[in-house]
Amino acid sequence: MKIVLDHLTKRFSNRTKGLDDIIAVNDFNFEIPDGKLVGLLGPSGCGKSTTLNLISGLEKATSGKIWFGDDDVTDLPPENRGVGLVFQSYALYPHLTARQNIMFPLQNLKGKDKLTKEQMNEKVLEAAHLVQIERYLDSKPSQMSGGQQQRVAIARALVKLPRVLLLDEPLSNLDARLRLATREEIRRIQQETKLTTVFVTHDQEEAMSISDMIVVMKDGIMQQIGRPQDVYDHPVNLFVAKFLGNPPINVFDGKIENGAIVIGNERILEIEGPQDQEVYVGIRPEGFIMDPEGTFHVHKKQLEILGRDTSIVATHPDMISESIRIIVTLDTRDDPGETVGFRLKPGKVEIFAKDTEENIEFSVKESL
Ligand SMILES: Nc1ncnc2c1ncn2[C@@H]1O[C@H](COP(=O)(O)OP(=O)(O)OP(=O)(O)O)[C@@H](O)[C@H]1O
Ligand SMILES: [Mg+2]
Repeated sequence: MKIVLDHLTKRFSNRTKGLDDIIAVNDFNFEIPDGKLVGLLGPSGCGKSTTLNLISGLEKATSGKIWFGDDDVTDLPPENRGVGLVFQSYALYPHLTARQNIMFPLQNLKGKDKLTKEQMNEKVLEAAHLVQIERYLDSKPSQMSGGQQQRVAIARALVKLPRVLLLDEPLSNLDARLRLATREEIRRIQQETKLTTVFVTHDQEEAMSISDMIVVMKDGIMQQIGRPQDVYDHPVNLFVAKFLGNPPINVFDGKIENGAIVIGNERILEIEGPQDQEVYVGIRPEGFIMDPEGTFHVHKKQLEILGRDTSIVATHPDMISESIRIIVTLDTRDDPGETVGFRLKPGKVEIFAKDTEENIEFSVKESL
């Protein structure tokens, strides 16, 4: 079931008198394709939960429409939309067992949808099997780990076979290891059920690792939508570039001058296209190749060895980021001295306009 957001807007009047309305979702106009897992990503307060609540019907749109396939669901109450919801707090009934919790949504079905006890049991077993918690069906929430409780919550969202599955930061209450395992689980369940799924997180790595598509948001405005790798490789603006990637992109004050990207007094990359102007230069941490004859030099502060990766932590007079992080391979990390020279991988360098912070396209000049 594809979801279409059609000029969708949500305004909240400000709780503080005299202040302007908050536009939590500002003219969202995009499609979530059928059967895909889409990650909504952005900093706190950017409107992720509001977007999800508009899709589920918990919030009413100020203007615009929401379509599930060919159905206009804009004015439908949540219970008639066919959505499964999972929140950060598992919100299980503490006095009920896992089985009773999962069965709960089925007990309210009325009329022709009403199920027999046996049919309900069967559906509960199917859902429990999907999230692999059959063993805990007779346990109460207090007897289960956070990850197990979250799976019960997912089973409860799935048991009515929703048209759309909506997850709002479902992993935030889990520790690092369980987060990792549970996000893989969510991906597996989504791929098995082929349910159109919207997954909210402010963790860019989480969104990138399990989503078919990500939507990056800021202040209620959709910044970019696309496949995670495409958004990472071609960020439309400095905000998106900085939001994706860990360690983050390194940002410098620079300029375009006589066919080159210039930082300080170094021509770091010969390019074609943009006119001379001041720009922000972004270089991904993996975009550096150590080379004493290289075009770009930084001042080494220290090495950071984190298991598989080694980063050179460095400074540069024109850096805007607090420090520079450069990922290097093991064999190149040995004492490169105080000043380290690099060649740059052109695909890992981005430039942004000083005023709009929008990405400026360029092509790399072929060396003769
Ligand atoms: N019921 C409400 N009344 C007034 N303002 C609200 C209401 N709900 C949300 N907002 C405001 O709308 C904006 C978006 O909130 P939302 O909860 O969607 O953000 P979010 O991206 O989910 O943030 P977080 O990552 O912290 O959960 C915020 O500025 C918030 O203060
Ligand atoms: Mg939220």
